[in-house]
Amino acid sequence: MAVGIFDSGLGGLTVWDAVSRRLPDVPFVYLGDNANAPYGVRNPDDIYALTTASVARLFEAGCDLVILACNTASAAALRRMQESWVPRDKRVLGVFVPLIEALTERQWGDNSPPREVAVKNVGLFATPATVASRAFQRELAFRAIGVDVETQACGGVVDAIEEGDMILAEALVRSHVEALKRKMPHPEAAVLGCTHYPLVQEVFQDALGPDVVVYSQPDLVAESLADYLARRPEMRGPGQEARFLTTGDPRRVSNRATQFLRRQIIFEAA
Ligand code: DGL
Repeated sequence: MAVGIFDSGLGGLTVWDAVSRRLPDVPFVYLGDNANAPYGVRNPDDIYALTTASVARLFEAGCDLVILACNTASAAALRRMQESWVPRDKRVLGVFVPLIEALTERQWGDNSPPREVAVKNVGLFATPATVASRAFQRELAFRAIGVDVETQACGGVVDAIEEGDMILAEALVRSHVEALKRKMPHPEAAVLGCTHYPLVQEVFQDALGPDVVVYSQPDLVAESLADYLARRPEMRGPGQEARFLTTGDPRRVSNRATQFLRRQIIFEAA
């Protein structure tokens, strides 16, 4: 009954943390492609090739359903994967839709025409590849009208977090928030469109100020997955064991993961 969680590196652990608390009986198999992170500076073909290789590994580990806990892969590769790569008996889901449904006050699967929503000015913080894809704006346009989105490509933040350099990550977040505010002085909401960013969520909130509502994915994705599995229980794959796999150095990745989640996490080679 295993479910797979994929990220380019450590960021997806923020999603793993939320989904494993929400669904404690489901064994999750996590795969971090740490050897190839960050994805955010790669081109879409490269991201597609790396993401499909990792998702195939998760299918092999007994997962029939894989969550791409990576916005960059969701933005740059998911649609192509769903159209021509995912086998008929498997599912791959992204992390964008639950976030956009929350922002646009929609229930799961509400496909009614786009309508006006409460928020009008939204700042999107994401990797350069996610920003370039415009996938967030595309998904938003299906559901809402009249929302002004200003984007900020947060170069360097994922690299700093992967290296465990939280001082650099914090400084970069503050400078990216300043850059966004120069373009949009008064956002009402900010979207953390990268699963690494919840690890520095307080810094975003502090730099944005208390009046800005910060939308972060882990809890939203956990609710949405619980809902999905209640409707599609057969999508729990045959795997029985919770595991953490990495394409990087298992010892190094285990140390960082343990430091971030403040509990022992042991990775093995993918
Ligand atoms: N956590 C990934 C995301 O949500 C980071 C991508 C990267 O490796 O740059 O976009």
